[in-house]
Amino acid sequence: MKFGVIGAGQMGGGIAQVAAQSGFTVVVQDVKQEFLDRGRTVIEKSLAKLHEKGRLTDAPDVILGRMEFTTDLNAFADCDLVVEAIVENEGVKADLFRQLGQIVKPDGILASNTSSIPITALASASGRPDKFIGMHFMNPVPLMQLVEVIRGYSTSDETARFVTQTAERMGKTPLACNDFPGFVSNRILMPMLNEAIQCVMEGVAEPEAIDGIMKLGMNHPMGPLTLADFIGLDTCLAIMEVLHKGLGDDKYRPSPLLRKMVQAGLLGRKSGQGFYTY
Ligand code: CAA
Ligand code: NAD
Repeated sequence: MKFGVIGAGQMGGGIAQVAAQSGFTVVVQDVKQEFLDRGRTVIEKSLAKLHEKGRLTDAPDVILGRMEFTTDLNAFADCDLVVEAIVENEGVKADLFRQLGQIVKPDGILASNTSSIPITALASASGRPDKFIGMHFMNPVPLMQLVEVIRGYSTSDETARFVTQTAERMGKTPLACNDFPGFVSNRILMPMLNEAIQCVMEGVAEPEAIDGIMKLGMNHPMGPLTLADFIGLDTCLAIMEVLHKGLGDDKYRPSPLLRKMVQAGLLGRKSGQGFYTY
């Protein structure tokens, strides 16, 4: 199977890596060569770590040999499945799917790794809504078990079956849900992270104490502020905006502190500064 991934950031790189680990031929596209180079370096480090722990079936160079890195969208023409993992912005994603609908072979399936944006709207933009689906991997992709599979209004049973089986072939556990803002994962996770940010703004406790309370008190592997920094504060804000607009309830209002930090360019781990310094 030929597997396409758009975006070589933390999610696209991880999805491409796990697809190649599973034996698929993979094409990864991004807008600039430097983003592809950065993504490739992250993949190389992750593969080296997994190899050291004996968790790979093939050697890292064999896995990398299955991957092609390109800035050309036409490289997706003969892909059986293309998963998009670019910025969490509906307009930008819709424009991309409009182009992909013209490029990818007619029986190719298109999927979005979006955290929250309506699958049905992106499916309409693609011009092939029956062959469109949400395939939502979790961060960090090489370590996390879940793939949330989100059916749009017109997604066919065949498309859902194919994507579910592909997730299983990637060693993941697919779980199905319907197309509502934030799906299940971020409808529940993101308000908790937003509330932790609101606690910082109101001076309820220091960030270290908030994270410590949730780690030690609730057995969460990461505190909510560490996790928000890890996901990316820009992505967290974009998800809260989708929940707020899509569900029309002020309980999903993004914390003003979250908005201000994104305006200031503090995006968390990826920019070197968020609630913590990296
Ligand atoms: N590839 C390979 N190895 C990796 C890796 C990667 N991408 N990331 C970390 N590792 C390795 C580390 O190097 C470390 O190796 P050593 O044991 O040799 O030191 C090992 O994995 C364990 O890592 P850590 O010791 O740093 O930390 P940990 O034991 O806490 O595990 C974790 C890391 C699995 C990420 C864990 O902290 C965790 O589960 N955190 C929560 C993650 C989470 O909630 N993800 C979902 C985010 S929400 C989302 O994805 C949806 C959305 O739309 C926003
Ligand atoms: P990121 O900022 O790390 O990477 C995004 C990449 O997409 C960048 O390399 C960027 O250059 C590239 N890109 C932007 N526009 C592009 C275009 N038009 N064509 C090709 N490439 C383009 O972001 P990320 O954290 O990997 O998130 C990507 C997607 O995955 C978002 O939709 C996000 O909501 C979703 N997601 C994120 C997480 C997370 O924890 N960060 C988890 C699950 C899903």
